[in-house]
Amino acid sequence: MKRSQDTMAMRTVLKSVLFAALTAFVALTGFAGTADAQNVRPPEGASTSSGPPQIAADKGGNYDIEMWNKVRRNVQGTVSIPDKKAGVLVDSSGETWRAMRNGPLPLYGAYGLGGIVALLALFFLLRGRIRVEHGLAGRTIERFSDFERTGHWLLATSFIILALTGLNVLYGRDVLMPIIGKEAFASIALTGKWLHNYVAFAFMVGLVMTFVTWVWYNFPHPRDIVWFLKGGGMFGGAHPAAKKFNAGQKIIFWAVMLGGLSLCLSGLQLLLPYDFAFFAKTFAILNGFGFDLPTQLTANQEQQLATTWHGIMALVLTVIIIAHIYIGSIGMEGAFDAMGSGDVDINWAKEHHSLWVEEELAKGDSGSGASARPAPAE
Ligand code: HEM
Repeated sequence: MKRSQDTMAMRTVLKSVLFAALTAFVALTGFAGTADAQNVRPPEGASTSSGPPQIAADKGGNYDIEMWNKVRRNVQGTVSIPDKKAGVLVDSSGETWRAMRNGPLPLYGAYGLGGIVALLALFFLLRGRIRVEHGLAGRTIERFSDFERTGHWLLATSFIILALTGLNVLYGRDVLMPIIGKEAFASIALTGKWLHNYVAFAFMVGLVMTFVTWVWYNFPHPRDIVWFLKGGGMFGGAHPAAKKFNAGQKIIFWAVMLGGLSLCLSGLQLLLPYDFAFFAKTFAILNGFGFDLPTQLTANQEQQLATTWHGIMALVLTVIIIAHIYIGSIGMEGAFDAMGSGDVDINWAKEHHSLWVEEELAKGDSGSGASARPAPAE
């Protein structure tokens, strides 16, 4: 009884979360099969869903303005062939997509990217570099194996290439082209496009490698709440206890895994437009949870959803990763060694991952190198 109540409660929570995420996504993209395209700002002279020019028939204008207005606005006619989608002569959802792609997506993306850089700069100014409180002991302990670091750097380098080439697709024309000129930009954009297509596969391999090696350490635990309540020790006070990964790192891990998976799937949809229909399939699954989403999507609509979702997820993940890179390099003394050499100073380890150090020491790894001022575990 209790179990079935729990299951029902979980289903309700899951449904609400999914519903909120989808509502936000649909509202943000303005996507709807029969979009009225109110806020479209097409280029000058473009044919739009506001219909054909209102020229009277006696002046050589259109004879049936109303009919063409409807056709231009995605109207569904009747057809006798099995593919009912053929009843739509003009799929005007592309205009809604274009407005999104040229408006809110790059705009909010720029806010996010600029915002995180400003926030980190402010944090650095106020807090400075997070130091090892007891000083470096000069004695190290192995933090990550060669395999773990290979997976991390494959994931990291491929992500950085994908992020830079992807940002070039979104912002390059406005930001880079006026500086370097059209011809240089064309070569960079073309090379970037090829890199983006192929490096994506290295990213997928890196994602799988890091997932299988680290998933075991990233399941939530009640001590994660304490870690959050103490701000991870980043704003002063003792560092809360943590095993191999602390609560903040678990968030990064799951954001990278779920966001990365979603980027891979939407990216495959973009690479192979007619092979997957990921959105129609995902919507069909979600309809099983009580949603009422369209499952008859045209190839164009699939691609519109894929580019929009791919763009949103890429921007969100890039913002998160900028913060990760900061804390893993200049933001925290001793952190980079974990991914650099694989060995970290024992005092750093005791301050940030006290329970993990206890486990490692119990296994017999007493650290290596000169012994000096080892700090007590906190
Ligand atoms: C120059 C870029 C980067 C640097 C300097 C860096 C540094 C680090 C360091 C030092 C750690 C280990 C932290 C510890 O010992 O506790 C780490 C872990 C990790 N990194 Fe990176 N990283 C970079 C880029 C990336 C990118 C691009 C991704 C993914 C897209 C990524 C994903 C992860 C994940 C999932 C972990 C494990 C969870 C965590 O520690 O947050 N890293 N990174």
